[in-house]
Amino acid sequence: MNRLRRLRSSEVMRKMTRETFVNTSDLIYPMFIIEGENIKEPVPSMPNIFRYSIDKLDEILDEVYNSKISGILIFGIPKEKDEQGSGAYATDGITQRAVRYIKSKYSSMLVIADVCLCEYTNHGHCGIICGNEILNDETLPLLAKMSVSLANAGADIIAPSDMMDGRIGYIRNELDANGFKNTPIMSYSAKFASGYYSPFRDAADSAPSFGDRKTYQMDFANVNEALREVEEDIAEGADIVMVKPALAYLDVVRAVADNFNIPLATYNVSGEYAMVKAASQNGWIDEKRIVTENLVAMKRAGAKILITYHALDMAKWLLEEN
Ligand code: PBG
Ligand code: ZN
Repeated sequence: MNRLRRLRSSEVMRKMTRETFVNTSDLIYPMFIIEGENIKEPVPSMPNIFRYSIDKLDEILDEVYNSKISGILIFGIPKEKDEQGSGAYATDGITQRAVRYIKSKYSSMLVIADVCLCEYTNHGHCGIICGNEILNDETLPLLAKMSVSLANAGADIIAPSDMMDGRIGYIRNELDANGFKNTPIMSYSAKFASGYYSPFRDAADSAPSFGDRKTYQMDFANVNEALREVEEDIAEGADIVMVKPALAYLDVVRAVADNFNIPLATYNVSGEYAMVKAASQNGWIDEKRIVTENLVAMKRAGAKILITYHALDMAKWLLEEN
């Protein structure tokens, strides 16, 4: 009789036959950086996640550095917002200053810069607007300007999250033309219009003031369209593609992994984090077990790079095991 239980009889046997592992090098930690001084402000809907002013970053950066994770994804939150999101591409904008600070202090730390206008516009949309319309082609030069200014500040990877059509090609051209031929682009290729972003929008103060993002982010029912988005981004020069959110979209992760030969990231977003934290704070689930299971599932589905607010906890648990 075949007995699959034979190989489950001890931890060493199980580990020897285990198919999927999460490594610290898979992990990217998202961070919120706010204008001002002496600020370490909790994000209420994201327990143990804070908004830091630049002068308060050292403690968490030391932690990131010692954790052996691959790097950080940074989101700047400006004081002033305007219609054109001009803080996004200002030489001394909050994100540009943050990148410069981090790279001057921790030169080997991989810094990925999110590129989008929604944290910087007074209407909270990811592109510039005309009436109630979010303009595509008019937004592209601003995204490219933001990308170049962040590359200039020292960002190692540019990560556009806006979902405008044609942005990857446009940004690639502008990066190339400005001396950043070797700066990779990680594209938020299949980014769905999702209820799972709510805690992030509190953290980044980026909720749209009218309407929603459904005219640019994807319909959550669609997987074929996700493949078209990925195909397009690869054709335009993306170096890494992403599916976002992660957990409710692991079928999309698998489909992308099966269809394309390119490093694949998935973003385990704020709402996914909030649900795990809330349940574990209530004692309803075991946080370490659930987080490990979720992150292994993302890798099993075919993702290589895991962007997650659990990154530092997961790294700590991995180091404890070894
Ligand atoms: C901005 C952006 C968002 C996230 C990453 N970049 C929010 C949005 O589209 O409203 C979400 C991340 C998260 O929920 O953790 N374009
Ligand atoms: Zn946006």
